Amino acid sequence: MPSVYFQTFGCQMNTADSDTIHQLLSQRGFVLCGSHAGSDLVVVNTCSVREAAEKRARARIAEFANWKKHHPGQKLWVIGCMAERLGDALKKDIPGIDTIIGAKQMERIDDVIEAQFPKCQCDDSASADIFQKTLVTDFVPVMRGCDNYCAYCVVPYVRGREMSVPYDVIEYAVKQKVDAGIKEITFLGQNVNSYNHGGLDFPELLSRMAAVEGLERIRFTTSHPKDCTGKLIDVMASSPKIASHLHLPFQAGSDRILSLMNRRYTSSHYRRLADTVKKRVPGVDLTSDILVGFPTETGAEFRETLDLVRGVRFTTAFMFAYSPREGTAAAGMREEIHRSEKLARLAELIALQTEITREIYEKTVGSELEVLITDRQQKRDMAWMGQDRGCKRVLISCENAAPGMIFKVRAVRSSGMTLIAERV
Ligand code: SAH
Ligand code: SF4
Ligand code: F3S
Repeated sequence: MPSVYFQTFGCQMNTADSDTIHQLLSQRGFVLCGSHAGSDLVVVNTCSVREAAEKRARARIAEFANWKKHHPGQKLWVIGCMAERLGDALKKDIPGIDTIIGAKQMERIDDVIEAQFPKCQCDDSASADIFQKTLVTDFVPVMRGCDNYCAYCVVPYVRGREMSVPYDVIEYAVKQKVDAGIKEITFLGQNVNSYNHGGLDFPELLSRMAAVEGLERIRFTTSHPKDCTGKLIDVMASSPKIASHLHLPFQAGSDRILSLMNRRYTSSHYRRLADTVKKRVPGVDLTSDILVGFPTETGAEFRETLDLVRGVRFTTAFMFAYSPREGTAAAGMREEIHRSEKLARLAELIALQTEITREIYEKTVGSELEVLITDRQQKRDMAWMGQDRGCKRVLISCENAAPGMIFKVRAVRSSGMTLIAERV
């Protein structure tokens, strides 16, 4: 049987896309290979969000292309956001790439794969069990693309216009996964909370999905503050199946920078929103994306970002130094912040957030949590990994556990970003 190896960079949408392609290939007889050596097909799924992400992907692709020279017959596919952004130019840069599949082609990926490997060529019956993963959590993309055009961001260019998946397609995917043993589903979208298909909005989608029997937990990411409505917060507050976790990127604390970024909210609006979520969903984990060193950001404006972080107290955050992306509005702005200054700001922000994360984890010690067991810890017997209803990782020592089980634990200790807990 032919074999395929996946190397996936970027966000959870890319992970979901790689899974989709994997599934289509397994229907054509492909088995998954643990390394590029020895596989017939290597698929590299790429990200363009920052220059460093592209550099990492390029280095890996070059490595695979080099390997391929001595292994005739092996194929190399480059897919995803960088494949979309650079297209065939990538093939010129790195000879050895056989096929480029840009992110926008995910909308019609069945046809794309069919054109590469027609289904009738292989024996379907052999492939049926290959894709069986014993997973507890999984992703379901519900909307793709982005219409927001934040000034720094390449995503709208590489992922295209916003497009919501029809409700019945989502329902079918969710029920299929639940039947296969999945307990927790994360709904994905670049702006998941602007989901709208034929008038059915995101809060309505969530409350319908919360009624699916056997589905124990629902997560979603990423939400845009401008579309974070009272209705969404109400659904989070009223459904025990929806995780107490909201990932709500704020990017910057200064209103002037937010406006230059084209984010369409102010810092005080964001703070009010965070307050409301905390009041309505007690114990909620708020997390965020934060960008420092946007062109023209002054030291004082950066302090406003630190103030917001201190005020809101996120459980964790993804923090980035601004990286200019060709073709975006910000790439044309002057007064770029010097790299060393950007990195100094980033280090200060990370130090602050790390301390807040540590304090929040410490404060959780002693409380009772509901944990979904996701996997066994590799190194120790009877040690299980799981996640609470928010976004905290929990390690539990106990017998008779298995992935997919949900039980009550008490946090007894915190070690950085993991809670050590005992079964209640
Ligand atoms: N759709 C999501 C985020 C997608 S990109 C949202 O709107 O929040 C993930 C994160 O990468 C962004 O939130 C931003 O913080 C960061 N990012 C995007 N473009 C960037 C750039 N040019 N340089 C550095 N970080 C960037
Ligand atoms: Fe990028 Fe902004 Fe769209 Fe998020 S909302 S994907 S940051 S353009
Ligand atoms: Fe990267 Fe594309 Fe996701 S640019 S962050 S992989 S949508």
